[in-house]
Amino acid sequence: MQANNEAKKRIFSGIQPSGILTLGNYIGALRSWVQLQEEAEPLYCVVDLHALTVRQDPAALRRRCTDTLALLLALGLDPKKNILYCQSHVSGHSELSWLLGCFTYMGELSRMTQFKDKAQRHADNINAGLFTYPVLMAADILLYQTDLVPIGADQKQHLELTRDIAIRFNNLYGDVFTVPEAYIPKVGARIMSITDPTRKMSKSDEEASYIAILDEPEVIRRKLKRAVTDSEAAVYFDPEKKPGVSNLMSILYALTGENLEAIANRFQGKGYGDLKTEVADACVAALSPVQAEYKRIQADKAYLEQVMADGAQRASRLAFKTLSKVHKKLGLAPYKL
Ligand code: TYM
Repeated sequence: MQANNEAKKRIFSGIQPSGILTLGNYIGALRSWVQLQEEAEPLYCVVDLHALTVRQDPAALRRRCTDTLALLLALGLDPKKNILYCQSHVSGHSELSWLLGCFTYMGELSRMTQFKDKAQRHADNINAGLFTYPVLMAADILLYQTDLVPIGADQKQHLELTRDIAIRFNNLYGDVFTVPEAYIPKVGARIMSITDPTRKMSKSDEEASYIAILDEPEVIRRKLKRAVTDSEAAVYFDPEKKPGVSNLMSILYALTGENLEAIANRFQGKGYGDLKTEVADACVAALSPVQAEYKRIQADKAYLEQVMADGAQRASRLAFKTLSKVHKKLGLAPYKL
């Protein structure tokens, strides 16, 4: 990344207040957020409106929004350098979502794999919000003239749709939106489940299948001890043939920086038990300081409220600029506040 002002990029990303954030969220996205905070005022948003596409308990959702913000702060995001806020506090997200929905095709939305997955898992509640989820995500991103979107590999398809919508709109109305690019880490863009390494690690699956950022050290060790591997007893990287071992190696690489070849060499003649212990050590070393900081920040409700309010105010100012431009281009009647 460039250090001079002109070259600074606008960063935006979002995370659902799902209560449990996993090692997948951490390695795939949140670490990049922290690394990118020297760029021009990144915006990181707790996407509570997206969370409503599945049924939520209101009191729990309210609590999880502040808890998610506390976790972002505990990870080291500085509220002076970053705009940290809650999606529902900036009405521009919903407004732009409507406008962009008029430029998005049903066919495009029905091809989204996340929609197909979620519709299968929540067959009793395939609501329109689930279907138009990617339009709201496009609005999140385009509202801020975003250059880069740090995400894990599972969000790539949504980002591609966002680009298509932006390009379509720009072709019709002139250069209105910056066309964003995905920022996906080279290692760890898709952390797999530890009980079924052919599936993405997700908090929606059984508890043993994921490491939560807030799991106690002994829980992390116990879960990793039981991680599914294979019967070959040789440590090398081959995601097709050895998904479990390759996933553990990727986690180790992402957390320690030791590359896959060096890991494979070092573990020659050793068993999977040693690999699992090292992965557990690396997770505990990375997550323990975050957990301690989280406890401290989470207790300070006044501070969290203030960070959230300040973030929403700063985000709203930026959102207003884009929305005014979009209204004008579309021919909506002018108004003065
Ligand atoms: P969400 O809340 O499911 O996940 C947040 C981020 O974590 C990444 N991630 C993973 N990365 C690697 N391995 C995994 N197993 C793993 N699981 C999750 C996700 O890719 C994501 O970057 N739709 C988004 C939230 C969103 C958003 C946005 C993101 C809404 N608007 C605008 C970027 C820009 C989502 O549900 O992420």
